Amino acid sequence: MTRPRILIIEDEKLIRWSLRQRFEEESFIVDDAENGADGIALLSRAAYDLVMLDYKLPDQTGLDVLRHIRENDQDVVVLIMTAYSNVEDAVEAMRLGAYDYVTKPFKIETLMIGVRKALETTRLKREVRDLRSQMQKDFGLDRIIGRCPPMQQLFQTIRDVSASGASTIFLRGESGTGKDLVAKAIHYNSDRVGRPFMNITCTAITETLLESELFGHERGAFTDAKQKKKGLLELADGGTVFLDEVGDMPPKLQAKLLRFLEERMFRRVGGVQDIEVDVRIIAATNRDIDQLIRDGVFREDLFYRLNIIPIHLPPLRERGDDLRLLAEYFIAEFAREFRKNITGISRSGFDKLRAYPWPGNVRELRNAIERAVLLSKQPELGPDDFTLGRGEVETPVEWVNLPHNGIRLQDLEERLVRQALERTGHNQTRAAKLLFLSRDQLRYRMERYGIK
Ligand SMILES: Nc1ncnc2c1ncn2[C@@H]1O[C@H](COP(=O)(O)OP(=O)(O)OP(=O)(O)O)[C@@H](O)[C@H]1O
Ligand SMILES: [Mg+2]
Repeated sequence: MTRPRILIIEDEKLIRWSLRQRFEEESFIVDDAENGADGIALLSRAAYDLVMLDYKLPDQTGLDVLRHIRENDQDVVVLIMTAYSNVEDAVEAMRLGAYDYVTKPFKIETLMIGVRKALETTRLKREVRDLRSQMQKDFGLDRIIGRCPPMQQLFQTIRDVSASGASTIFLRGESGTGKDLVAKAIHYNSDRVGRPFMNITCTAITETLLESELFGHERGAFTDAKQKKKGLLELADGGTVFLDEVGDMPPKLQAKLLRFLEERMFRRVGGVQDIEVDVRIIAATNRDIDQLIRDGVFREDLFYRLNIIPIHLPPLRERGDDLRLLAEYFIAEFAREFRKNITGISRSGFDKLRAYPWPGNVRELRNAIERAVLLSKQPELGPDDFTLGRGEVETPVEWVNLPHNGIRLQDLEERLVRQALERTGHNQTRAAKLLFLSRDQLRYRMERYGIK
């Protein structure tokens, strides 16, 4: 809100005039109306940050105007001005959604305190709304590209499930099929959107840590527990917890999770008190869960409890023409990011993509396109721009023409580092990516070879 815009609806000329004076001193933009109808007309023409509304107007009551404002879904903040004898009506107005009221006669500086608070409320309301719609855009269904029948079906399921009260959802699909995207889309399309989305991967941390991350712990529950800590389930109350790689959850925690899913209650590690929360669990795995059950590493009862609403993400090779759609989407994305004039993909280039089975699914396609866009010299990507399969993990030595009299490995490395920097316009993040190095590893080498 750069300059707040305020509407004064008030029939007493003197009050209108003095409010206008004072507001203009603050550089507010001011409009005024002397009756309800004119006020409503102005409201339909501009977006106001605050409406100063007199309760007793010549043509209608302030309550009528307020009702009109609310029906038109304006979340504009309304401050009622009323004579002391009408305070009860003002209270009624607040019930209808007015922000506050002041009684006449008022001191203008006292009024200004209320005005500032009201404007701050407007600003916060707008901020929250903008943030929310931004998140819905960033994590919404639009970001999931797909037109083939299984994906259409998936979109419908996401919509249905988001709107439902379903407390447990199970996402299955090979690595890179979009489980992360879908989990977020479900959360941000649901009415849980105003509450947290928390994400935890069940692999890669120890059982103790995972348990305390998820359920929290009491002080002194174990050696490192110096303070009481809330777990994700508590922090996400009202929202969603995404349990990624649930197939890797240790057996003891599987039992604890099962109890939570059945009773919606749990105890912190070292705790004696049951804690109740309202959390939607979205679990995901890219592993063969049936095999894990047969092997006795995943509890069958937990599987059934999780699998109440199963969502299967098809592998890329079963998505037909979506391959082209996705390829074009990623080409546009990376062409923009790297500021390269890449317009598309040649027929033989696409044939190569189509012939490949994509074990790493959409993630692998995205990576292949990122590399191709970065390295290609022509506006159209051709078959040679794609290194598929194991090629993905090979260092791109093909850039260097080995001289016949040989070359020292160190010199070769230096040349590769220089080339990578050149090709990326000295963008270290990109260059490191090209060389399959971390940024620190790249910096270390730049220092060693005295590069800038
Ligand atoms: N349909 C899609 N449209 C656009 N981008 C997608 C789509 N599916 C996946 N992606 C992108 O592919 C990458 C991998 O997706 P994601 O991380 O959701 O996969 P995943 O199923 O969670 O994989 P894993 O099992 O390895 O965790 C991400 O960059 C994601 O944005
Ligand atoms: Mg994932």
